[in-house]
Amino acid sequence: MKAIILVGGEATRLRPLTLNTPKAMVPVLNRPFLEHVIQHLIEHGIRDIILTLGNLAKPIENYFGDGNQFGIGLAYAVEDTPLGTAGAVRNAIGHLDEAFFVLNGDIFTDLNLKDMFHFHRERKAKVTIALTRVEDPTSYGLIETTAQGKVTRFLEKPGPSEITTNMINAGTYIIEPDVLDYIPERTSFSFERQLFPQLLDQGEPVYAYPSSVYWIDIGTPEKYLKLHRDLLSGKSNRYSPHSSDAVATGEGCRIHPTAQIAGPIFMGNDCTVEAEAKLTGPIVIGSGCTIAEGATIKDSLLWHNVSIGQKARVKGSIIASNCRLEANSWVNNGSVLGDNVTVTCGYKLKPSSRIRPGETVG
Ligand code: GDD
Ligand code: MG
Repeated sequence: MKAIILVGGEATRLRPLTLNTPKAMVPVLNRPFLEHVIQHLIEHGIRDIILTLGNLAKPIENYFGDGNQFGIGLAYAVEDTPLGTAGAVRNAIGHLDEAFFVLNGDIFTDLNLKDMFHFHRERKAKVTIALTRVEDPTSYGLIETTAQGKVTRFLEKPGPSEITTNMINAGTYIIEPDVLDYIPERTSFSFERQLFPQLLDQGEPVYAYPSSVYWIDIGTPEKYLKLHRDLLSGKSNRYSPHSSDAVATGEGCRIHPTAQIAGPIFMGNDCTVEAEAKLTGPIVIGSGCTIAEGATIKDSLLWHNVSIGQKARVKGSIIASNCRLEANSWVNNGSVLGDNVTVTCGYKLKPSSRIRPGETVG
């Protein structure tokens, strides 16, 4: 069976992280997010994968190539202008001849794909949509169903007064190939706002497959950081930390004996933690990072080659690759730094700051 992964969105809500890096390539536990999505497919026996790309396609193609190195067959369907979620799949029609999976490319989940396929076949569905429960459905696609699981209504991004259920579209579909006939060629077309409501109008059998396993959309910095906290505290079955305070370090790391380290921490290769630095998890640190003497880091995510100066402080924040925090600077709660940012000596960023790649602040 084949799977199409949608990775052509603009990822505006994850800026400034995604100004230079596609959402699919933002690191999770120091590997590109998309690698985790592909790993999930492999775990369920799916190795024939098509990526639909638009915005920032090159870094993705360069990293994954023909998929051989990852044990999969990979094809690309690249859009000149964004075709929307369904239009992107229509654009890959040459690769599709039997029922296939479609995955939003920004979801980390433990969803049981084999079981979902079994459900789809049993119901003789044209489309099956995975459902998950969220507290606030307003930034998702709300789905109403009958008691038997047949979808009766699809409402993308409902207003607060329109909420009738907490069950939402979890961004994984199984689609029969004849459904592609409903999608116009080379035209922007959406599953959520056009195709699904249209299929319901036509009386096509669209089913919902509810699941309560771990699920998150990494579309905002808050949720992207939350995924790391969740993984380090063992909320997903797909990553098991040794214990709730485990410290996992890569090769070639040097940690000074006077540094105070409290897990959970996940550290890449070749990092240096100097004397009296204080690291309080959950923290993920990419490869080649340097934490200078007396610096403190708490509940944060650092990409690769980040340098944290003497007595600098980082809390509840995300710092992209090659950033430099000079001595005594502070990066506070909810801040997000794009790559190559410098925070100068002694400067204290306001909470929730967003700094564009390459800027120097202070
Ligand atoms: N190739 C391609 N072309 N991909 C696209 C395009 C496009 O024009 N537009 C969006 N995508 C990709 C995005 O990269 C992402 O992986 C996926 O489609 C979904 O787009 P998002 O922008 O992340 O949508 P959302 O999170 O607001 O809402 C969607 O996901 C929710 C679950 O997280 C909808 O499917 C909701 O109904 C759903 O509840
Ligand atoms: Mg999303």
